[in-house]
Amino acid sequence: MVSTTNMTLVRAAVERLIHCGDDFQEMKLAVESLYEFFKSITGIDFTKWNDADIHLPSGKAISAEGAAHCLLEFRRTAIFLRGIKQAVDSKVDSNEGQIKILYAGCGPYATLITPLLHYYSADKISVTLLDVNSVSLNAAEKLINELRLGDYIEQFVLADAATYKVDRPYDIVISETMQAGLKNEPQVAIAQNLIPQCSVDTIFIPERITIDAYLRKRGIWDGDRLLEEGGETNHLGELFTVSKANLDSSSYRKVITLPQTFNKPYDLLLYTTIKVFGNEVLGLNDCSLNLPLKYFELREGYTKTVEFWYNQSNKPKIESKILDYIS
Ligand SMILES: C[S@@+](CC[C@H](N)C(=O)[O-])C[C@H]1O[C@@H](n2cnc3c(N)ncnc32)[C@H](O)[C@@H]1O
Repeated sequence: MVSTTNMTLVRAAVERLIHCGDDFQEMKLAVESLYEFFKSITGIDFTKWNDADIHLPSGKAISAEGAAHCLLEFRRTAIFLRGIKQAVDSKVDSNEGQIKILYAGCGPYATLITPLLHYYSADKISVTLLDVNSVSLNAAEKLINELRLGDYIEQFVLADAATYKVDRPYDIVISETMQAGLKNEPQVAIAQNLIPQCSVDTIFIPERITIDAYLRKRGIWDGDRLLEEGGETNHLGELFTVSKANLDSSSYRKVITLPQTFNKPYDLLLYTTIKVFGNEVLGLNDCSLNLPLKYFELREGYTKTVEFWYNQSNKPKIESKILDYIS
């Protein structure tokens, strides 16, 4: 069993993550201390790749080590923890009974809930930890037991969240099973399966994922001499939003019309914005989930319209094609 000193470490780390504002150094030190501690208990070390990704009909469930590494994406972890704490607080404040939480894709550390549990008493919240990867789920169970947090956990479930039949009411569902541009991992399929099985009042985290198209000017070079800085951006439009109210992926399709005035080199990029809960938002370059994806390099203003759509398959991704050119 872990000592109270180590539990103090968890409490101190999460307090820093929640209250440090935009202090990246504080966030980094806090997630590193949590990672070292969770690694020492579970043996899941992202530098020792023992486990493999699991390929599901709805996308890829990343390995236990890959999922462990997510903890170190400090801004992602901080903003999710802040948003989830606010969501749990809002439910605890407005409910007499116990709040039930389903964490779908918990990974080996159940990173987005384990550090928050001590803020509540076990009679106030009850968590289902679910993952399709037995290495991750077993590690999460070991961690919870070693930290003596078992009273908070209702069940550990080994299942595919994209097909799982929900058998009890949940107040909050958490799932972070995505990459930038909703590529590769099954976030959309999991939301489509779980949300309709829950009540209208259930909070789904993240609340909203939005994909936007941007033009970003490239630098203009003459050999090794920069003639004109790049970077200036131009918002072309929203492609689609994934949320409780918008789960039909056949509607994740949009034709974008390009302005015809530019004659400089531009990149056509997609940005991913994640509204975790309330005001807690992850935007451009906040973490790997928000890196811009480059779709086209446009040198001249000849391209007129581009169509984008979400290809929901075992390798989900946003696809695109140029529809027409200026003649
Ligand atoms: C990106 S990792 C995130 C880990 C952790 N939730 C975090 O935020 O740090 C995604 C986790 O979800 C699990 N996962 C992905 N697809 C799943 C599915 N369809 N059903 C259940 N678990 C899934 C993976 O096995 C992995 O543990």
